[in-house]
Amino acid sequence: MALETSWEALESACLNCTKCELCKTRTNVVLGCGSRDAKLMFVGEAPGEKEDLSGIPFVGAAGKLFDKFLYAVGIERDEVYIANMLKCRPPKNRDPLPAEQDVCIDYLRSQVKLIRPAMIVCLGRISAMRLIKPDFKITKEHGVWFNKGGISMCAVYHPSLLLRDPRKKEDMLEDMKAIKAKLDSLNGVE
Ligand code: URA
Repeated sequence: MALETSWEALESACLNCTKCELCKTRTNVVLGCGSRDAKLMFVGEAPGEKEDLSGIPFVGAAGKLFDKFLYAVGIERDEVYIANMLKCRPPKNRDPLPAEQDVCIDYLRSQVKLIRPAMIVCLGRISAMRLIKPDFKITKEHGVWFNKGGISMCAVYHPSLLLRDPRKKEDMLEDMKAIKAKLDSLNGVE
């Protein structure tokens, strides 16, 4: 698939996409939200129920928890861009299938090409395994920075994992503080 080189082309391709079965059950395509000039991009897995209904990523319970971490470290939701690997909701929120990722990943590539972020943070293991490296171990490697094609990349725990295992919230806060510090250094903030 050719990468879309304008937001209009990308939006139209996504809204009309029928490349996988998820198009049959979606309410909305969830392309992404936030600043199209963002230096920092977050990438989750796939929309859940609330996201499917609203068309906006990370607005359900996991999203609300994620917002708390953004607020805690002083990152505005509007200054970053938030997207998912899949643009449509998998039934019952099951993990994205490799075949679904394969057909959807070019939309994310187009988004990265259009935004040109300096940093990408994967939310959870699934996007880290796809975007950073296939053998990514989230417990050992969360918060570790990798350079991929000039983009600084790391992964943090997925907020829905933190809902199930609140003991991991301390690590998440440390990782988010480090992400904010890196963002500030890019912005020339002391
Ligand atoms: N989980 C995700 O990975 N993405 C969302 O948008 C919502 C929940």
